[in-house]
Amino acid sequence: MKIISDVLELKTYLKEQKGKVGFVPTMGALHDGHLSLIKRAKEESEFVIVSIFVNPTQFLAGEDFDKYPSRDEADKKICEVAGVDLLFLPQIEDIYGRDEVSLSAPNIRGYVLEGATRPGHFSGVLTVVNKLFNIVNPDLAYFGKKDAQQLNLITLMVKQLFMDITIVPVDTVRESDGLALSSRNIYLSKDERVEALKISKSLHEASILVSKNILEAELIMEKMLEILQPLDVGYVAILDREFNFIKSVEIGKSVILVEALVGDTRLLDNIWI
Ligand code: PAJ
Repeated sequence: MKIISDVLELKTYLKEQKGKVGFVPTMGALHDGHLSLIKRAKEESEFVIVSIFVNPTQFLAGEDFDKYPSRDEADKKICEVAGVDLLFLPQIEDIYGRDEVSLSAPNIRGYVLEGATRPGHFSGVLTVVNKLFNIVNPDLAYFGKKDAQQLNLITLMVKQLFMDITIVPVDTVRESDGLALSSRNIYLSKDERVEALKISKSLHEASILVSKNILEAELIMEKMLEILQPLDVGYVAILDREFNFIKSVEIGKSVILVEALVGDTRLLDNIWI
């Protein structure tokens, strides 16, 4: 596996490669969720690139940028074993200059849900993903459904900026008890880990209600909020796949999302129904 930090070196190296390039952007502290993106990329592309870059512009003041988990050596090993062809490990100076051109998230879709809790977050995400796409020039890029709003906005960016990249959504990987894998799960104490299960349980309950043909969004959200007690819930929302709020679940066309604070850790989860 080739490891490169320098942008020009990467671009030069990529000119010599042939075949479809599959790209998995990450912030490291890799887990089985990331790995499922990498495996999917391996199946569909001839040359697989993973980037690890903890992007400062998507963290708000007071968030965990400085203490974001970092596991450089373990991450390299995981990528190597997974058969990644190239690991891109830029430093902040490789990606950002002093006076920056940046992308703004759309005013509505970028500022609801996660974007309301973290105003400006998605502008940082879109800016860095745009830069990474320009550096790597992938044919396919892989993103987790776990970060549904991020996935939606990146898909929108690719469409609106006429980028020739196929965005591939990948299913959420969970622990055996239902907790969605996240690099931030390591912040959870033992008790918080138990409390965090309420998030996936509330989504499971929502799917049971839907299977009983209870489709009214308000009713489903009410039941979910009961299960989520006493967590500090950022939002429970029911949307269509274009990220519009809906009154009634339409099977095959809806997403149910939760954000909740467990201790000091904000966790996200959702199901696609
Ligand atoms: P990060 O949180 O490291 O996630 C990298 C990718 O892994 C994202 O596409 C995310 O949705 C996916 N992922 C995370 N947990 C997952 C799980 N349990 N199952 C499946 N996929 C999962 O998301 C980011 O980094 C950054 O915002 C980034 C896109 C790299 C831009 O900085």
